[in-house]
Amino acid sequence: MNILVTGGAGFIGSHTCVALLEAGYEVIVVDNLCNSKVDTIDKIKKITNKEVVFYNIDVTEEKDLDSVFSTHIIDGIIHFAGLKAVGESVEKPLEYYYNNLVSTMMLCKLCKKYNVKKFVFSSSATVYGDNEIPFREDMKLLSTTNPYGETKAMSERILTDIAKADSSLCVTLLRYFNPIGAHESGLIGEDPKGIPNNLMPYITKVAKGELDKLCIFGNDYPTIDGTGVRDYIHVVDLAEGHVAAFKNITPGVHVYNLGTGKGTSVLQLVKAFEEANKIKVPYEIVDRRPGDIAECYADVSKAEKELGWIAKKGIIEMCKDAWNFEKNIK
Ligand code: NAD
Ligand code: UFG
Repeated sequence: MNILVTGGAGFIGSHTCVALLEAGYEVIVVDNLCNSKVDTIDKIKKITNKEVVFYNIDVTEEKDLDSVFSTHIIDGIIHFAGLKAVGESVEKPLEYYYNNLVSTMMLCKLCKKYNVKKFVFSSSATVYGDNEIPFREDMKLLSTTNPYGETKAMSERILTDIAKADSSLCVTLLRYFNPIGAHESGLIGEDPKGIPNNLMPYITKVAKGELDKLCIFGNDYPTIDGTGVRDYIHVVDLAEGHVAAFKNITPGVHVYNLGTGKGTSVLQLVKAFEEANKIKVPYEIVDRRPGDIAECYADVSKAEKELGWIAKKGIIEMCKDAWNFEKNIK
């Protein structure tokens, strides 16, 4: 089976390529490398000892993308390609709406032309908004606070409407919680360009001495220690969630949370990182970051019941693997 993986050179996409190849699927990656490096493709090959077809193509460019569909028989798509920095999306809303929505629609258009029926989409816990925890797939979604989140909510609606109009389509919407960690080989992981926005890559840069200290955004939230609580999931578990989703894909629209179901505060994550890696992470408490919510974790029972998938790796392993990868970055 050939799976087209858009954004397969990125953080979650590269780990998913490894998981798919190890499960016996063939992988065709399309990525324009706007937030990733081409070496990642060689690293995927090195880890799995398997071939990967790679195209440096922008998913919003119809002619280029059409040539991929006309060259290969594609059995299904996992669509990761997208811009994901929340703050940047507020400054450059048009880029975010254009890239994230046109890419999804272009893929749908070509799926129709080439009769591709299976579509797995990278959504986000951000679509729940500031809802009651734990977040359940059947909850009414609340408004998102930034253009990035809006592109995820809108893509979900677009895919849902397209699937409603064609009952043979199989659409799975995966709502990720907070992926961290890296492959145990230390070859692939999260390597954002510039100063990281997300907590774990910031922590690893501080530990490495590239940044002075971590700024913790607020310690007055109604949480266990006042700092924000999130559901961190090891990226390798998340990648395996995609294989389970693809194996179990059926007609209609199906939504799954991919998380661990457990909340960890910022301070708890910092302490776990220090303990796991025997290294200090200096930090300072600063003001809350606008748009952040206090607490977010998943109800993961639906994915367990219907996909037979559950996250296995704990916070200490996530911290060790994230650091192991960071130490390898030149
Ligand atoms: P990433 O930036 O590492 O990977 C995205 C990849 O898509 C990159 O390699 C980038 O070069 C590529 N890309 C972007 N626009 C493209 C285009 N128009 N054409 C071709 N390639 C393009 O991000 P990630 O963390 O691996 O996230 C993957 C997906 O999961 C994204 O859609 C993201 O919004 C979603 N997601 C991520 C998180 C997270 O915390 N990392 C949480 C929820 C959802
Ligand atoms: N945080 C800090 N300091 C930092 C970075 C983050 O204290 O330098 C805190 C945040 O305030 C929050 C927690 O660490 O409490 C996690 O923040 P991240 O930026 O790592 O992650 P978010 O939960 O804000 O958002 C992430 C992705 C979104 C995605 C969401 C899904 O960035 O794209 O998870 O749950 F939608």
